[in-house]
Amino acid sequence: MCGIFGYCNYLVEKSRGEILETLVQGLERLEYRGYDSAGLAVDGDNNDQLVFKEIGKVVALRNKIDSADINRSKIFSNHVGIAHTRWATHGEPKPVNCHPQSSDLNNEFLVVHNGIITNYKDIKILLQGKGFVFDSETDTECIAKLFKHIYDTNLASGIELDFHHLFKQVLFELEGSYGLLVKSSHYPDEVIATRKGSPLLIGVKTERKLKVDFVDVEFPQDANSSTPNPPNPPQRRALNSQKNSSLNLLPVVPENLRRQISRSFVNDEGEPLPVEFFLSSDPSSVVQHTKKVLFLEDDDIAHIYDGELHIHRASREIGASATRSIQTLEIELAEIMKGPYKHFMAKEIFEQPESAFNTMRGRIDFINHTVKLGGVKSWISTIRRCRRIIMIACGTSYHSCLATRSTFEELTEIPVTVELASDFVDRRSPVFRDDTCIFVSQSGETADTMTALKYCIEKGALTVGVVNSVGSSISRQTHCGVHINAGPEIGVASTKAYTSQYIALVMIALSLSDDRISAVNRHKEIIDGLKDIPQQIKKVLQLEQKIKKLCETVLHDQRSLLLLGRGAQFASALEGALKIKEISYMHSEGVLAGELKHGVLALVDDKLPIIIFATRDSLFTEVQNAIAQVTARSGKPIIICNEGDDLVKDGNTSATLEVPLTVDCLQGLLNIIPLQLTSYWLAVGKGIDVDFPRNLAKSVTVA
Ligand code: UD1
Ligand code: F6R
Repeated sequence: MCGIFGYCNYLVEKSRGEILETLVQGLERLEYRGYDSAGLAVDGDNNDQLVFKEIGKVVALRNKIDSADINRSKIFSNHVGIAHTRWATHGEPKPVNCHPQSSDLNNEFLVVHNGIITNYKDIKILLQGKGFVFDSETDTECIAKLFKHIYDTNLASGIELDFHHLFKQVLFELEGSYGLLVKSSHYPDEVIATRKGSPLLIGVKTERKLKVDFVDVEFPQDANSSTPNPPNPPQRRALNSQKNSSLNLLPVVPENLRRQISRSFVNDEGEPLPVEFFLSSDPSSVVQHTKKVLFLEDDDIAHIYDGELHIHRASREIGASATRSIQTLEIELAEIMKGPYKHFMAKEIFEQPESAFNTMRGRIDFINHTVKLGGVKSWISTIRRCRRIIMIACGTSYHSCLATRSTFEELTEIPVTVELASDFVDRRSPVFRDDTCIFVSQSGETADTMTALKYCIEKGALTVGVVNSVGSSISRQTHCGVHINAGPEIGVASTKAYTSQYIALVMIALSLSDDRISAVNRHKEIIDGLKDIPQQIKKVLQLEQKIKKLCETVLHDQRSLLLLGRGAQFASALEGALKIKEISYMHSEGVLAGELKHGVLALVDDKLPIIIFATRDSLFTEVQNAIAQVTARSGKPIIICNEGDDLVKDGNTSATLEVPLTVDCLQGLLNIIPLQLTSYWLAVGKGIDVDFPRNLAKSVTVA
């Protein structure tokens, strides 16, 4: 998915070469999100802009910059650079469609954008009518051109707007979702950033500790503000034009100052501090520079100039917070590096004993058999009274809901439905105030899940998040929730997030039912089972070499694969099939074993590879029947079974993969690991870049 990165230095001397390196490195940290092209813009030598764009990997952009004939040693003590990785939505990947998108040949306004402008066609037609010529097929280009149009129109009336006032006028015309950074030759060394439905954060780096760890929000014509209102826009612009000091300016006296001074970024004498700002759609590109970050909220307009960060709102909403806090990120750079593994996906698969433990750490008391989830404990009694639970998610996260649904039903005795977010929204399914809606998402930013969340909030339901990314939109916008604490997941294929989501959901079900005397023994059994899971996962991971061999022999060069599971293992079949298709590009299909005779058997012969989940649970006998149906048609399935259960001994199977036995409702945690490894080795065998499978993105922030 698209990634945004911006860098501003103020009173901190940096050469052009250093600035370019910071921007390119910022993009490299965003690579894991998936993208098809990249671009950036920095200042030129004559109030012009240097723009670089390239399709393919960031390294291609780096090479292009390296071979450019530019003065790399020129020093800037005050500068703004913006950069972008693009994942094509409007227009194929080609240089002209890369960001930054420009307003005109002189690059008066340059824009990088994540998201989609839904009314871009209308804006484009309007601007074309006014003589603008569009070069790209992107929706973003209309933003850059709209800037120029509104700027020129105001100027023609003698008004030189402050950058953020100009921005407000542009935003007024835009519909859709966006994370945006804008730089302009009319506003040197200034940058504007905003977000609506697309994440954006600002890292702050100073030598000295900030005076306060928040930024005041500036509302228009704010009667309640403790600081004086800024002068009107035209006057403010002229007052700030230090670079145009030959103009006939008003004297700079305190009451004429352009804006209120942000309390965070000044020293004791009220003077600005040397400071660097890192703007990004993702903390992973900021942590190497600073851990102090401010998360923008939807519709915040961040304006950075003269070493200060100002947050503006178009209007003062009732109950709106008057500050944005500068938080300390706990994520470590080491956490997002590959370590000894060749791919992030492998690292994350092998991290699961640890990530599974981290999900439970501090939350389960294995001695007293109790579960305490800090994020939901004060909501538990409300949830218990709900009429039904609706679990909503996409992809792998949806499968973790399917895998735990029966545990919820069994333990809570509350009806549970599981919904794919896009379908749920398409149907505008009825939701009531006494429903509890659980949103499961690794990234916490998935557009369909977010849309469903907003819909459920509108309907007055209680919303609960189960999210990996702390500070993500879903984590912040749900009433309450549980962070799964799996650590950053960078491989596009979700692995450790699945097992941690599964555990977090089981823990929620346990918390909801810890008042039921009749469930005490079952609770004890499940909690004891959870205690052993990390060690058992470690054991399953030892199957790697056997699985690798299967991928090189039985599964090699196959075009299609069926996975059969029943009950909770249907979720394992679906998740296994998703992993295989997304990483190895082999068609694979998860089938409910009970449905075999209703059509799917037609596919079975001695050639089609089939994987069957046949671990011991209440449906074990039924699954044996499914195996018999397959082998009777010359099928030679690969069977995932419990240790010692060598199910078909007469040569009817291609292989058995034995996993430890756990409590029935946790078995899926172990059963999925062989499939993660299978997808990994199938893909590696085909030479596929496992961390960046084609056509996929880590965080799907467009619907
Ligand atoms: C919190 C701290 C953790 C600390 C622990 C010990 C955070 C993020 N977590 O963990 O570092 O070790 O206390 O006291 O500071 N939330 C949502 N929606 C979601 C996910 C979470 O609203 O999708 C909310 C929760 O309701 C809660 C907060 O975010 O208010 C933190 O959730 P979580 O990290 O799960 O809470 P703890 O496990 O208590
Ligand atoms: C598959 C995968 C996707 C995601 C889906 C939801 O490996 O990663 O199917 O699970 O896009 O993403 P999140 O969990 O971030 O909402």
